[in-house]
Amino acid sequence: MTADIRARVHAVLPGIRKDLEDLVRIESVSADPERAGEVQRSAEAVAELFRAENFDRVDIVTADGGAPAVIAHKAGPEGAPTVLLYAHHDVQPENDHADWDSPPFEPTERDGRLYARGAADDKAGIAAHLGALRVFGDDLPVSVTMFIEGEEEMGSESLPALLKEHHDRLRADVIVIADSGNWDIGVPALTTSLRGLVRLDIEVRTLTHAVHSGMWGGLVPDAVMTLARLIASLHDDEGNVAIEGLHAGPAADVDYPEERLRAESGAAPGIEWIGSGSTVERLWTKPALSITGLDAPKVAGASNTLVPAARARISMRTAPGDTSANALECLVRHLEAHVPWGATLTHTVVDTGEATQIEATGPAYDAARAAFTEAWDGTAPVDMGVGGSIPFIAEFLDAFPEASVLVTGVEDPDTRAHGANEGLHLAEFEKVVLAEALLLAKLGG
Ligand code: BES
Ligand code: MN
Repeated sequence: MTADIRARVHAVLPGIRKDLEDLVRIESVSADPERAGEVQRSAEAVAELFRAENFDRVDIVTADGGAPAVIAHKAGPEGAPTVLLYAHHDVQPENDHADWDSPPFEPTERDGRLYARGAADDKAGIAAHLGALRVFGDDLPVSVTMFIEGEEEMGSESLPALLKEHHDRLRADVIVIADSGNWDIGVPALTTSLRGLVRLDIEVRTLTHAVHSGMWGGLVPDAVMTLARLIASLHDDEGNVAIEGLHAGPAADVDYPEERLRAESGAAPGIEWIGSGSTVERLWTKPALSITGLDAPKVAGASNTLVPAARARISMRTAPGDTSANALECLVRHLEAHVPWGATLTHTVVDTGEATQIEATGPAYDAARAAFTEAWDGTAPVDMGVGGSIPFIAEFLDAFPEASVLVTGVEDPDTRAHGANEGLHLAEFEKVVLAEALLLAKLGG
């Protein structure tokens, strides 16, 4: 059976590659209101792909004014389990085109990788599902429900409403989330924990209007310096997040070699790691906090005035085991207690998403481990955590607590998801498709 499936995967791969290329040409940046039409177009393209696979029912759905998602069904044999295949068709902004070596929305192959925004995260997740399905044609070993979301990169805000509205259509025994990745080229993984996310915009105000910095400097604090002090209070001297009350947990005993960390992290020469504990603890099971945006006057054109107000976006990753409600409360309490010099602090929650910890045992996991080991020619998958977030998982587990959730994906350590030159490793991609096809066959018994 494995040899047949392997040959079928190889045969369907060129078609899948073309479908992936067509999808990435659509600029489905969910965070950009001007490209809402592109997100709609990409939902339609995805729906069309499933119609072409003879799915019984294919719908584009929205809830609460959110982005369009695609739900589709195809029945397998009587009595076979139902498997829900998840991916998202929206992408992160491509940012400065000058940082890309080829146009971000024109798929381009170089040295075994296909480069484009979404070529991996997560249009290749859609393509992987499609590839596994094409292997079986109209003789699926299991019943399949597709759920391809359109706003994962925005925090999946309308997801609870979608899950509620389409609860019965989305019920599944096993759910395969192709939105993470593997441990290394040649070494597969199952993702068993993800961090949660709390994003908060803060504004610090120290003056009602700008004044001459020579006349009033030395007595009245400016907002940029005040905000900088507040931001500095968020870490201790070692670089650990200094907010009281956040949860942190132990990580799996996985060695992430220093040379790999140096090569894969993008850290500039001479940069020291921050925080304490094992490196995978710092990446997967401890909280992390970054400033991802800052509003302050530009250096070019800066005048000698005291800046009245400045803003920052805080992006905090929460540890598996914490809740975003607790983390948000602790963060706000910290900020209110540390804002210096009587400055006025205001804040707006951007979004929150829950962390996930998966008990990776049971028949679905056994099937997945066997499938991955075969697809990678005898190399068994490692259980890994990731520092990123897929809030969808916790929402789905709330709605369907009995389902087994398998988190897989196409990413490798050099995928550069969200960055310039995002690229899909094509040889690993074939293994991902093969592993998923083998998994479906095993789940079907
Ligand atoms: N595919 C990522 C999640 C991920 C990141 C998996 C790193 C494996 C490694 C996903 O598309 C993503 O980026 N999610 C956002 C979620 C947020 C907008 C709520 C994230 O983590 O920033
Ligand atoms: Mn993704």
